[in-house]
Amino acid sequence: MNESKTIVITGGAGFIGSHVVRLFVNKYPHYRIVNLDALTYAGNLENLRDIENAPNYCFEKVNLLDAGALERLFVQYAPDGVIHLAAESHVDRSILSPLDFVYTNVVGTVNLLNAAKTHWSGNFGGKLFYHVSTDEVYGALGDEGLFTEKTPYDPHSPYSASKAASDHFVRAYHDTYGLPAVVTNCSNNYGPYHFPEKLIPLFINNIINKKPLPVYGDGLYTRDWLFVKDHAAAIDLVYHQGKNGETYNIGGFNEWKNIELVKLLCRLMDQKLNRREGESEALITYVKDRPGHDRRYAIDAGKINRELGWKPSVTFEEGLSQTIDWYLENEEWLKHVTSGEYQQYYQTQYTTAHAS
Ligand code: NAD
Ligand code: TYD
Repeated sequence: MNESKTIVITGGAGFIGSHVVRLFVNKYPHYRIVNLDALTYAGNLENLRDIENAPNYCFEKVNLLDAGALERLFVQYAPDGVIHLAAESHVDRSILSPLDFVYTNVVGTVNLLNAAKTHWSGNFGGKLFYHVSTDEVYGALGDEGLFTEKTPYDPHSPYSASKAASDHFVRAYHDTYGLPAVVTNCSNNYGPYHFPEKLIPLFINNIINKKPLPVYGDGLYTRDWLFVKDHAAAIDLVYHQGKNGETYNIGGFNEWKNIELVKLLCRLMDQKLNRREGESEALITYVKDRPGHDRRYAIDAGKINRELGWKPSVTFEEGLSQTIDWYLENEEWLKHVTSGEYQQYYQTQYTTAHAS
């Protein structure tokens, strides 16, 4: 563990990526961490203010679609490893603009694989391409059962289809060229720095501003929620101890129906904002469903638990409470990320796509 390494983390200015960058920069002062990010609407260097001047950290504004820039970056830094998180990540946006997801998630991942393969060719010793993926590639579950590493892929949204394609390419490069690779498929994350287009931060922001809470369909869709710092800890463990060529599922053992989660969030927010009980719940508005909406996701994280000893460390109540506190203490951050492009997205998504 004291050996020095250079690791390129892609998407480090995004939600999960910023937690992974922070963890690696602080925990491994002898590593050099290169954050590669195009700074799309979802990327924000404010997410990394506390570590931006660390001597073992640097930022490179590079788009995954620029194969030449990736090539130059590999020559310049000669990385030992890549942890690949950069992606278009929001299902609703993938329904509005599927090609953006094909470009970044599929073409961008193949560009990155090519750069790694070219640069590492002939000497794969000590190298690793770590691909961070989602449980959504497995499709939808009924009332019973869990996704395991053996569940066949069955994606339904353009987002999950593009992530499935990228997972297949990573495994293809491992099988065809011998590129050392691992893939993890994780359930829904929540926590600080989460962009307020996803359910939990969107609803926190709307509750703060007393705006309607748009629950899709009947609200009985189920997700398995994991605190983002527990995901970052799992990534650290798999990067260092995962087996080449393996897949690990990561999840929270924490299933919630959307409407139950939203009601819990409303209760906690009423308490923290000193509002009367029931005030935030009154904002709940059922809207037209998301097309192709997957009914239930739930992960069997038994393999990573048995083989690497990982399990979530934060309970949902603790994690949600910490998350709400963070948003209440960081209203400036919220204001910055919800100005500009966000307003236009919100208008299109909630007054057009979901008009009943
Ligand atoms: P995010 O949308 O918050 O961040 C994505 C980051 O990627 C941003 O910083 C953005 O600027 C960057 N990016 C986008 N396109 C790029 C491009 N063409 N070139 C370079 N950088 C680009 O995403 P997130 O929620 O942090 O998710 C990170 C990864 O984890 C994704 O691969 C996602 O599929 C996966 N994942 C997310 C969740 C979740 O609940 N959010 C769960 C499981 C897996
Ligand atoms: P989301 O946070 O977009 O994650 P994902 O679709 O990748 O699981 O959505 C989580 C759940 O919340 C999903 O079932 C869709 C639902 N949802 C709403 O009901 N209203 C909303 O405004 C959003 C963004 C999501």
